[in-house]
Amino acid sequence: MMRSLDAESVDLAFADPPFNLGKEYSSKINDALAEQDYLTWCQSWLDEMIRVLKPGGALFLWNIPKWNLPLGAYVGARLTFRHWIAVDIKYSLPIQSRLYPSHYSLLYFIKGSKPAIFHPDRLPVPCCRHCGGELRDYGGYKDKMNPLGVNMSDVWTDIPPVRHAKYKKRDANGLALKLMDRIVSLASDPGSVVLDPFGGSGTTFVAAELTGRRWIGSELHCDTILDRFSALEGDQEHLADIQANKNTLFTDADLKRRKKNGKPLSKDYRLLQSDGSCACPPDEDEQSDLFKAS
Ligand SMILES: C[S@@+](CC[C@H](N)C(=O)[O-])C[C@H]1O[C@@H](n2cnc3c(N)ncnc32)[C@H](O)[C@@H]1O
Repeated sequence: MMRSLDAESVDLAFADPPFNLGKEYSSKINDALAEQDYLTWCQSWLDEMIRVLKPGGALFLWNIPKWNLPLGAYVGARLTFRHWIAVDIKYSLPIQSRLYPSHYSLLYFIKGSKPAIFHPDRLPVPCCRHCGGELRDYGGYKDKMNPLGVNMSDVWTDIPPVRHAKYKKRDANGLALKLMDRIVSLASDPGSVVLDPFGGSGTTFVAAELTGRRWIGSELHCDTILDRFSALEGDQEHLADIQANKNTLFTDADLKRRKKNGKPLSKDYRLLQSDGSCACPPDEDEQSDLFKAS
């Protein structure tokens, strides 16, 4: 499929391939290829993703660290490395004499030296799920914090595994809509072209479709994706919820929790007005101020 695409025609390319973990896919595809075969196979589709990427376009590669280490070196020799994002999700049981695997690797590259599109969301202050209180003390810097939220770091701790029956579209492997919305928002604009060669349950396509991007994808078994697209209301609702809880300093849920637990918010914080307006600071970076202060 990718060979049929024009060179330099895609703004954002994302891949979440099978991990070669010996799992059975319904396709009965042999997912336990020898390690080198797996890497060679990955390189063949990565070559195509790189070819079709526009100058300044972004390539994201999702995998376990074991594979993203060699694959990252391969892509890094062809594109410009931006970030290794650690996405904190536990995905296996603790293994004796090993550390507990608790993050997926999300590699982010761009073609050329400058990203054509880069607008990371800002995130709410991390708060206690029970009382709504801040998990860290911003001390005397509360008034310097951007009402739109804190800067995104390269460690993402707020991506849920897709477990909820309402949001889970298939038995295994579906990524969270929150993750795909974050990536699509960061590296594409409405009208941009988004490519995902391993569609799975279609999460990338849903995030792209519902935010006005154009998208191209492939999948060996498209039934789940077709089903999902035949009734997008649930995803639409879910996405609205995700979007209401980003680019804001505190989520409504946390503010409600605080109220319930008698923890009023410090008056020093500047919050978004109900009409969406805010007195945003110029271009200051409240987090680097915090680092300087500490
Ligand atoms: C890890 S899953 C992707 C899940 C997806 N990111 C989601 O959120 O639902 C990998 C998918 O790649 C598909 N796949 C494997 N080999 C493929 C190929 N050569 N071409 C297209 N899809 C393939 C599998 O059927 C599987 O659904």
